[in-house]
Amino acid sequence: SLPVENVQALASNTLKKIPPRYIRPEIQHEPASVEDSLQIPVVDTNKLNDDDDDELAKLHLACKEWGFFQLINHDVPEEVIKKMKSDTEEFFQLPLEVKKAYAQLPNHIEGYGQAFVVSEDQKLDWGDMLFLLSQPLSLRNLTFWPTLPTSFSRVGMEVRRARESAKNDDERSTKNKMKEREGESGGGSGWETLDKYSEELQQVTLYIWKLICKNLGLNSEEMESMFEDGTQGLRMNYYPPCQQASRVMGLTPHSDAVGLTLLVQVNEVQGLQIKKNDRWVPVKPVPSAFIVNIGDIIEIMSNGEYKSIEHRAVVNTERERLSIAAFHSPNLRTAIGPLPDLVKDNAANYKTVSSEEYIKRVVTSKLDGKNLLEHMKL
Ligand code: SIN
Ligand code: FE2
Repeated sequence: SLPVENVQALASNTLKKIPPRYIRPEIQHEPASVEDSLQIPVVDTNKLNDDDDDELAKLHLACKEWGFFQLINHDVPEEVIKKMKSDTEEFFQLPLEVKKAYAQLPNHIEGYGQAFVVSEDQKLDWGDMLFLLSQPLSLRNLTFWPTLPTSFSRVGMEVRRARESAKNDDERSTKNKMKEREGESGGGSGWETLDKYSEELQQVTLYIWKLICKNLGLNSEEMESMFEDGTQGLRMNYYPPCQQASRVMGLTPHSDAVGLTLLVQVNEVQGLQIKKNDRWVPVKPVPSAFIVNIGDIIEIMSNGEYKSIEHRAVVNTERERLSIAAFHSPNLRTAIGPLPDLVKDNAANYKTVSSEEYIKRVVTSKLDGKNLLEHMKL
């Protein structure tokens, strides 16, 4: 990827004109219509836990017709989310020189920087990001994990040592060993904000996936466990205010290439919009809910029954906007294709590829500027 300017620094320079590469004449910011005030479905975990069939049906419909829903009353402790939000805010407030210690390397997406830029004439998004691979543990590259604010990814010395000595062990024993050491060292010092958030969201994802399995009639243990040791990436988005907010885009329209995304907005500034009936509908986050969306992988696995919906982020003229997206995919042993149980007598609508091949396609479709889902369609 090609290095581009830091948007936060660009935005703070009030004398500088907005470079043409950020101006997007094609953007339509239509005025809100009656339909725009429609809310995406809200799914209540309490009702699901009470075996409420109507709520399960609501989830099914949300996945089929919206590709998006908000999950309320989930059991992620409020402190975990609050801390994740405040540490994220603190991180982006650090001086640029400090943040650069975690900068992306050429041709890598991990670290602090901007969305994948592949050509000199490509339009640019009005935002910076910090992207980290967070699960499984073997994927973590701690050189990109900020040590400021100190609680963000504080990893105790014992944990680091256990990580080193367990490098060749399998995931589960690494995790156990590290948890043990953490206990020995008095607890609390080993696994901090990012790690706690990562663990909790992995659990929520598994919870949602099991309900999806129920709704799709997938009842083998193999199916249900697909997300148990799945992969997770965390992306913290920072969108500075822009005097010409209606002419730039915080995040280009896209569908998520992953299985399931869980998003929270950090402050009250809204900006997420989803494409519904060919119009851009703003999402109003319900406080303490997760905004959940079906990604391309679940669309493919469900053979098209569930939809991975295009969405984008717009920016504000006065205020900065921050959001945190957690991307979840099945474990790397899982082939990506329509699940045999869901194809049966019908034709498969998508190709089946290994997870390695799928990841390759995600990257190359970015390079081509082509839609990955279109490439996977049969
Ligand atoms: C995303 O699509 O990953 C982020 C959208 C947002 O910032 O709300
Ligand atoms: Fe997205």
